[in-house]
Amino acid sequence: MKIIVMGASGHGQVVADVLFQMWTKGREMEIVGFLDDEAALAGTRVLGLPVLGKLADLPAMPHDCVILGIGDNAVRARLFNELTSAGKRFATAIHPSAVLAPDVVISPGAVLCAGVVINTGGLVRENAILNTCASLDHHGELAQHSHVAPGVHLAGNVRVGEGALIGIGACAVPGVTIGAWSVVGAGAAVTQDVPERATVGGVPARNLG
Ligand SMILES: CC(C)(COP(=O)(O)OP(=O)(O)OC[C@H]1O[C@@H](n2cnc3c(N)ncnc32)[C@H](O)[C@@H]1OP(=O)(O)O)[C@@H](O)C(=O)NCCC(=O)NCCS
Repeated sequence: MKIIVMGASGHGQVVADVLFQMWTKGREMEIVGFLDDEAALAGTRVLGLPVLGKLADLPAMPHDCVILGIGDNAVRARLFNELTSAGKRFATAIHPSAVLAPDVVISPGAVLCAGVVINTGGLVRENAILNTCASLDHHGELAQHSHVAPGVHLAGNVRVGEGALIGIGACAVPGVTIGAWSVVGAGAAVTQDVPERATVGGVPARNLG
């Protein structure tokens, strides 16, 4: 299976490394290289992999599927939707150190980084990111295009809405819903539902306006 990583900056390199670690554990794949719109990267190698061209060059590149290595949720969502409309298939990147209950469901395009833990009943939808050492406890759900940053801990039955960003080191108590396209600040403790498109922070988390 030939995979192209869309985006070669910091998050793209994390995604490529997760794929590489899967490959070292015997998962059959060929990481063809990166595509990135940064002109300075054209023709260079990143993590030993070639930067083959710009994102728009994808049709000319041999590949079976793609994965998005772009941290910005809105940009990642737009590309995901465009590529889905174009009939592209998405790889799923799950670091070998991730611990998943047997009934956990991971959707195409999702990225689970090193040290992730997902408990029983967990659901990670398309194009979501569960970053380094983050945990999603039982029956939690990450909607499409959401990003749970490193070191976040989400208690049981927490739902993270589409495109939401949970900042580094935050946590959420059982059963709360974090609204679509909202931002939870670094280190926050979410103790009640967060409205859509809100920005909250602090302990307990309050609206930051
Ligand atoms: C919450 C956040 C989005 C706010 O960013 P911002 O809009 O640029 O806001 P500012 O830095 O201008 O700060 C605005 C106010 O919010 C406060 N604030 C900022 N971040 C905060 C946080 N994490 N918790 C509590 N208060 C915070 C600031 O102190 C400031 O307060 P003031 O107006 O009383 O001085 C950002 O600080 C944050 O925590 N982002 C998370 C990033 C992250 O973890 N990404 C994942 C990478 S893998």
